[in-house]
Amino acid sequence: MRITLGVTGGVAAYKAAELVRLLQQDGFTVEVVMTRGAREFVTPLTFAALSGQKVITDLFEKSAAGEANLESAIEHIAVAQRTDLLLVAPATADALAKFARGIADDFLTTLYLAATAPVIVAPAMNVNMWNHAATQENIETLRARGVKIVNPDEGYLACGMTGAGRLAGQQEIITAVRETLRTQKDLENETILITAGPTCEDLDPVRYLTNRSSGKMGYAVAGAAARRGAKVVLVSGPVHLETPAGVERIAVRSAEQMRGAVAERLARSTIAIFAAAVADYRPAELQTEKMKRNGAPLTLRLEPTPDILAEAAQTKGDRLIVGFAAETDHVADNARKKLAAKNADLIVANNVTAEGAGFDYDTNIVTLFSRDGRDLALPKLTKSDVAQRILDEVLRLRGVLRTKTESHRSAV
Ligand code: PMT
Repeated sequence: MRITLGVTGGVAAYKAAELVRLLQQDGFTVEVVMTRGAREFVTPLTFAALSGQKVITDLFEKSAAGEANLESAIEHIAVAQRTDLLLVAPATADALAKFARGIADDFLTTLYLAATAPVIVAPAMNVNMWNHAATQENIETLRARGVKIVNPDEGYLACGMTGAGRLAGQQEIITAVRETLRTQKDLENETILITAGPTCEDLDPVRYLTNRSSGKMGYAVAGAAARRGAKVVLVSGPVHLETPAGVERIAVRSAEQMRGAVAERLARSTIAIFAAAVADYRPAELQTEKMKRNGAPLTLRLEPTPDILAEAAQTKGDRLIVGFAAETDHVADNARKKLAAKNADLIVANNVTAEGAGFDYDTNIVTLFSRDGRDLALPKLTKSDVAQRILDEVLRLRGVLRTKTESHRSAV
């Protein structure tokens, strides 16, 4: 996806350089447009080096002979058509006023009018300018038109005053970008099979082996995928959760039943995500009657359950396979081993002994290990945000793998 980053003239313009890097890390292509004011604070070369793209500075770029060329005169239309999102950070009071009034006197303000993509602005200015009725009215006008405003933070400002006006934190801006793009149905063409919850392995009519999985992680992925337009089939072990809206749920109990449901629906899926905590062992014999207590020690014979993920990955074709790794030690090593051993494309590793991570919490702390060698460590996030980041990574990886396949085909 392509983001156009508009940088306007404020001290915070230098912070936009870091934004370019973070957006690229998220898999976005970033094209930078700088106003004349922004160029007083940072050089276009900085952004060109970071983005790997030509930085657009003028509405009418001059040729070597000093003449305005037609190409540059209509470039704002081309940029407006190819961008998926216009992010203006930092946005000065002047830029906000021009956007609100429809003044188009440079490349960025012209692009703003021509673009039909969603727009996010992250204002940064002196506290009095921010609080001024004119700025606040402009903000309200933009908000009413659907522009997303990432409000400035409070704190010590470059002008020496203290108050609201500092450019919002990078992560807050990135989150706004992700959320805005997510409201577009970027998984509309996908059918996603997801496993969630524990499995219960019966020993006799009243006893079973299980684990502490609540299903929250897998259900969060299912809900997020459905909201992003995917057709979602959720194969769920026994949990006490509502089925997310728009999701088809298949209830199972044991690893064997989960395996059967997955096998039945796998061929129709384009992505399969295995968040379930499947029991690794089950009683070798199922007692048909309740086992009696006789006071003597009891030894249970267990046998391994089928590895549902590894089986699914054997016939994956173009299907993207995502596994989880619930670890208590050597998380990165074990996760990378699982990535290879199970022939997965992505492993979501969580240290289930960490506070706020793993079983039953509403939050999780995960690192995403991708087949293309990228490791993405995420901070503690709600399971719903983790789910979104997993889906973002799936789409990024899908793009990388498709490009590789196409360049391989054209080389053959
Ligand atoms: O449900 P919650 O309470 O929200 O908790 C979330 C979670 C901790 C269960 C989740 O984040 C998680 O880590 N899920 C995977 C748990 C697990 O079984 O991990 P594992 O490392 O043992 O297995 C590796 C992968 O193989 C997993 O994708 C698992 O689904 C899959 N597997 C394992 C065994 C088996 N027989 N079949 C499998 O498909």
